[in-house]
Amino acid sequence: MRARPQISASILNADFSQLGREVERAADAGVDSIHLDVMDGHFVDNLTMGPVVVESVRSRTSLPFHSHLMMSNPLAYAQRFAQAGSDLIVFHLEADDDPGAVIAEIERAGKRPGIALNPETPADAAHRWLEQVDLLLVMTVHPGWGGQEFIVDVLPTMRSLRAEIDRRELSLPIGVDGGVNLDTIERAHAAGGEVLVVGSALYSTDGDLSPTVTALRAAAEGRTATETGAERT
Ligand code: DX5
Ligand code: ZN
Repeated sequence: MRARPQISASILNADFSQLGREVERAADAGVDSIHLDVMDGHFVDNLTMGPVVVESVRSRTSLPFHSHLMMSNPLAYAQRFAQAGSDLIVFHLEADDDPGAVIAEIERAGKRPGIALNPETPADAAHRWLEQVDLLLVMTVHPGWGGQEFIVDVLPTMRSLRAEIDRRELSLPIGVDGGVNLDTIERAHAAGGEVLVVGSALYSTDGDLSPTVTALRAAAEGRTATETGAERT
């Protein structure tokens, strides 16, 4: 029995001129968490937001904030992203810092740690950390930008990680990040993805996002929104 699909709104493709309102728009639409894409211009060739941005929108919703640190040195910033209001801090296994040290630092700050894997990183690179984190984020695009195509070649890695997590009887959710939309979300969920990060497929819509969120959740389970009786609610 697969877990209920969670929708995590990536604000990278939102309107940054009114980010607080954009966070509220996703929260009002019933997403399960907010995904904040932090890029340092070194780990990836893009620069997005720092702790000050996380702090500036923290009061706009009580939903969990998942800060996705696409940074070479997450150890130096874990505390600051924790203090800014992150609930879960996800860093990359491919970063320069020792993953054990980053996990310890995030926990010292009283927050939950997550690890992220780039598409080319083999599944077994994550095996030694599965008992120590609260989210395993599998990248289905090469990190750096929103609006990219879903890399289907990552699905076997996701299935292999799901099998290993189940074999160890861990309650560790897999996140899927990049190119998740109405066409790809069912495969992502079927391969073991539970926390489905959606950026451009969400924020490409103006106004009320709830029909989009309902459709995404239904599509994850292989149903259309009407089959879930969404219009009756
Ligand atoms: C890419 C980010 C993703 C991405 C999601 O580096 O980690 O969170 O922005 O956006 P879409 O859904 O547009 O791929
Ligand atoms: Zn992300």
